[in-house]
Parts: sequence; C-alpha cells; structure tokens
Amino acid sequence: MSTLFLQSEIKNPYLFYQKMIDENPIYWDESNKIWAIYSYKYCVEILNHKDSQIPPVSEKNLNEYALEISRNLARLSNGIQHEIAKETATILFSNMKSIGIDSILSQLFKSHNNNKINWVELICKKLPVLTILKSFNFNDQDSLFIADNIEWLTKIMHPNKNPEDIKFINCVSKEIYLIAENHIRTLSFYENLIAIISTKHNISHKETKSMFVSNLIGLFIQSYDAARGLLSNALLQCFSEGNNLDKTDKIQIQKLVAETIRFDPPIHNTRRIATEDIQINDFIVRKNEIILVVLAAANRDQKQFKNSMLFDIERENNQEHLTFGTGGHMCLAKYFSIHLATEALHYLFSNFKKISILENEIENEPLINARLPKAIWVLLSN
Ligand code: HEM
Repeated sequence: MSTLFLQSEIKNPYLFYQKMIDENPIYWDESNKIWAIYSYKYCVEILNHKDSQIPPVSEKNLNEYALEISRNLARLSNGIQHEIAKETATILFSNMKSIGIDSILSQLFKSHNNNKINWVELICKKLPVLTILKSFNFNDQDSLFIADNIEWLTKIMHPNKNPEDIKFINCVSKEIYLIAENHIRTLSFYENLIAIISTKHNISHKETKSMFVSNLIGLFIQSYDAARGLLSNALLQCFSEGNNLDKTDKIQIQKLVAETIRFDPPIHNTRRIATEDIQINDFIVRKNEIILVVLAAANRDQKQFKNSMLFDIERENNQEHLTFGTGGHMCLAKYFSIHLATEALHYLFSNFKKISILENEIENEPLINARLPKAIWVLLSN
C-alpha cells in the first residue's frame, strides 16, 4: 500500500484516509521508506513533538538569490533560525495594512471580457498574492511581475526539485528578490524591524535585511497554492448538492468557508523528520526517518469530528481542524485566509445574478501534498 500518490490520480482520497485511520493510524510505508500518520491524535502528537522537525529541502543548483530565500524561510527552518524567521514573518504579517479586496476583484473581473471565466486562473491564482502586495503598497508594475511569476518560486518548497523546477526558480528569483529588497526600504516599519531583530538575536543588519526580504517573499509563496485551493474548494462547496445556503448572506458564506477548511482542505499533508527516536503509541520512529502527517485525514477522524464525512456548516468544533497545522510551524494566516475567501465569494454572488459551474468532473494538479483544482469554468450573467 503506497502512502504517496498524486492527488490528480485519486478521485476520493478520503475513503483511503478513513480506512487508514481505522486500521493503520500510524503506518510504515516500506516501499517509500516513510511513516504516515492519519489519526487526529497522533498527527497532533507529531506536530507538537520536540524531536520532529522540518526536513531539509534540496538546494542543489539554486542560484544565490534562491538559496538566500530558501535558507531564511520560516516554513523551512528549525531551531533558533526558525525562531528568528518566524518572528520576522509575524512582524511583517502584522504590518500588512487592511485594504479593500473588492477593488482587486473588480479589476480582475474587468480584465476579462467574457461571461465564461476560469475561476482558478482569473481569481484563485491572483487574488491572494495581489492582496498581500497591495497591503504592502507595492506599485502596479512590480505587483504584476510578482503575481505573474510567483508560481515558479513556489517550487522552492519542493523536497526534491527536478532540473525544470530549478530552471524556473533561478529564472525569477533574482528579479523578485531585488524588487522586494528595494521595496522594503520604503516601508515605515523597516528601520524598526531591522533594529529589533538584529539586537534581540545578535545578528548583523545585512543578515536581518535578508531575513526580512526572504520572509516577505515567503508570504507570497505560502499564500499562492494554499489560498488558491481554499478559494477553489469553497466555490465548489457552494454548488455542492445539499448546500442550499443564501449565497448573498456573508455570515452563511463565512460558515461555509470555515467548514470547507475542515472538510476539503487544500494542503493534504506535511512532512517531518525525526531528530531522535520518537515513541508513538506502540511504534518507534527511528532518528532520521521521515514522517508524512496527513492533515486532511485527521480532519475526518470520527473521534474528533462527529459524523466527520458530513459537510455541516453548523458544526460546532470545525475550527479544531489541522488544515493550518499546529505547534511551532502553524500557519500565520488563518483569519486572513478565511476573510479572503469569504469576501471573494460574497463579491461573486453579490455582483452576478446567475452563476453556474460548467463541468462536473474537476481535475486536480499532479501534486502529492496539495489537492488543487486545475480549472473551474464558471458561466456568469448579471
Ligand atoms: C487556506 C490557506 C492556507 C493554508 C491551508 C495554509 C496552511 C499552512 C500549513 C499547513 C502550514 C504549516 C506547515 C507545517 O507545519 O509543516 C502553514 C505555514 C505557514 N503559512 Fe500558511 N496556509 C494558508 C495560507 C497562508 C497565507 C495566505 C500565508 C501568508 C500570507 C501563509 C503563511 C504561512 C507561513 C509564513 C507559514 C510558516 C510558519 C512557520 O513555519 O513557522 N499561509 N500554512
């Protein structure tokens, strides 16, 4: 039984996850030499365990800019380096100014003169990163360049990169790095942030600046795939049989988004490496073994969520999901993501009277860690 599969090749991974929760909640996959954890309890245990860390990603053949970004990202670092990176990312995130998402949506819809749209291409791939860029006052030209090219830089997170990934990463990393580096000097909190981080952690201003630039780019990277998936999955849930909600009521939409995050998360799994032997239930994960933490399975664990296979927007404890992880590496952007998806769907249903989805079978991207619709064709009329 293989625990690693492309999401594009499995119609309903939840049947498999359910079986694994029941029969093998902690499973050693001999063919891939990886542990896979499915139940809620053990996923939480691994994510909070002091000896489970982020595994290294391959940096082979990356150019100097891509290397700098990869080495500084909160998402990819451990120990003290992670503490500094996380603090930098958190300060950056808390300095995002609040902006009108509606105006970005209106421009995106205007850029497309047709009543048939691909929701994924037009909105999901653009809105999250443009929202972050605008919140940091990037100008239109730089925003356009970054929004059009960030997809290539997300490959920096892949544990193993093929020559094509490396070519794309190297191709865009210099320009994105230099745009971000030039821009941060204009931010009002720049000097303050550099002083706080460099004094507190006794690192040079040069290193602190690089940490700052990399983690700003990290916010673009992190938002790209995951928020794209949430915007896609939440729209699909709006049209799912049985979900007869009032689509112009923002509170109803927000509840739908919250349950979508549990029921149909964009990121299905994350990885850890054991830095010492870890005892988990009756098993011992040996030092240096890799662990796949299946967040999407944990979200359907009956022991945690009653009638877990039912989509129920009134579910009381759906915020206990593991979609944003838990522990030291937990996502910074939970509320930002819920807000973004709620605003986007509310805009769509308030601005177009008739909306229909044009196909039944949605194909997913060929990725192991994320379940992301490739395209969702939608017909709109006023
Ligand atoms: C629906 C949308 C999102 C989902 C499902 C999601 C999911 C996650 C998950 C699962 C992790 C933890 C990974 C791990 O423990 O291995 C994570 C970390 C992170 N996320 Fe998100 N994310 C989303 C949106 C965003 C956005 C919009 C941003 C930025 C604006 C963001 C920034 C980050 C950062 C910086 C980390 C690294 C934290 C650390 O390692 O300390 N995320 N995210």
